[in-house]
Amino acid sequence: MKHLKRDFLQLFGGKEEDIRIFFAPGRVNLIGEHTDYNGGHVLPCALHIGTYALVRETADSSIRLYSKNFPEAGIITVAQQNLSFNEQHGWANYPKGIIAAMQQIQPLNSGLEIMYYGNIPNGAGLSSSASIELVTAVLLNELFDVKLDMIELVKLSQKVENEYIGVSCGIMDQFAVGLGKKGHAILLNCQTLEYRHLPVDMTDCSIVIANTNKRRGLADSAYNECRATCEAALLKLKQHINIASLCDLTNEQFDQYKTVLSPLEQKRVHHVVSENERTKQAVTTLEKGDLLQFGELMRKSHLSLRDDYEVTGMELDTLVEAAWKHKGTIGARMTGAGFGGCTVNIVWNEHIDSFIAEVGREYKSKIGYEASFYVVKIGDGAGEILAEKETIV
Ligand code: GLA
Repeated sequence: MKHLKRDFLQLFGGKEEDIRIFFAPGRVNLIGEHTDYNGGHVLPCALHIGTYALVRETADSSIRLYSKNFPEAGIITVAQQNLSFNEQHGWANYPKGIIAAMQQIQPLNSGLEIMYYGNIPNGAGLSSSASIELVTAVLLNELFDVKLDMIELVKLSQKVENEYIGVSCGIMDQFAVGLGKKGHAILLNCQTLEYRHLPVDMTDCSIVIANTNKRRGLADSAYNECRATCEAALLKLKQHINIASLCDLTNEQFDQYKTVLSPLEQKRVHHVVSENERTKQAVTTLEKGDLLQFGELMRKSHLSLRDDYEVTGMELDTLVEAAWKHKGTIGARMTGAGFGGCTVNIVWNEHIDSFIAEVGREYKSKIGYEASFYVVKIGDGAGEILAEKETIV
């Protein structure tokens, strides 16, 4: 934290006392994949890694943005009146989008200097974008006393991602980043936004994230396509049955009406309905402390994402299959949108080292390049880091 403050002062000058520090985590989803935009349940948790934002108000009205992760971009200076999306601004479009959305609610009454630093691997599907969105939304909310509650900030951030950035994501990532709680997963009903925190007992095991390091490629357009297929299927089903979203379908209703769908739509909807069911079952197993059964549901989730939803691919399948073979694995599956990105694994603590070595070796030999591994902790959602807590971070 001291280093970040020193860097901020070197960059922008001024006094240390004027700097405020905010943090928003990344997230990992334990189960409930591609259910959020279908009105279903998800079970993500916030991570201890995320995005820091150091900020100071200034006397003029311009906004100066800098990211320690993209030093080559330098300080990006924008006027409050000119915050439209600009390809050349790269990463800075995320905070710009949030500032533009906040200004619609309440005009800012000062300029800003913000320095960001994120320790979430970029583009790995651990929600680095939701993290920078939420850290910016929270800091503006606090600095300018906008008085939005966290759910409103989450919705605003999702809207920016959908409309300003142009990715039609659901609400899971922003929700987990905003409302995460240390040591807990969040069960969220994405239709009603009802949620509750569930303790995750990690005494003898840990969450190990494995990154395929696959280049993102066309992930965003493939994601948008999945969503479009689900929307088309919903429209067809609505002509026969009164449902608001695909996750309103029971298994029996799916069997009864699936013939109105194309073969591809049938597979996609089958995943959505079964994944929503698995997520509800996963909550029961977690509450009973039955981690082995939880792991079995993670396995089924991956198979369904591989065979029905078709969003895994060689890299994710290789990592997950290697994990399933390892004796230290309680559960393993792909997490996030898919097509690359990461797997989430629950691993007995005593086997973590050999898990990383063996799964890593198998991946390298099949895929030709290395995977990366992160042993993570479940952290809190977005907020200000107050002076007395600084030493903890
Ligand atoms: C991405 C999206 C989320 C969700 C997941 C899949 O992370 O941002 O909204 O749809 O994919 O579960």
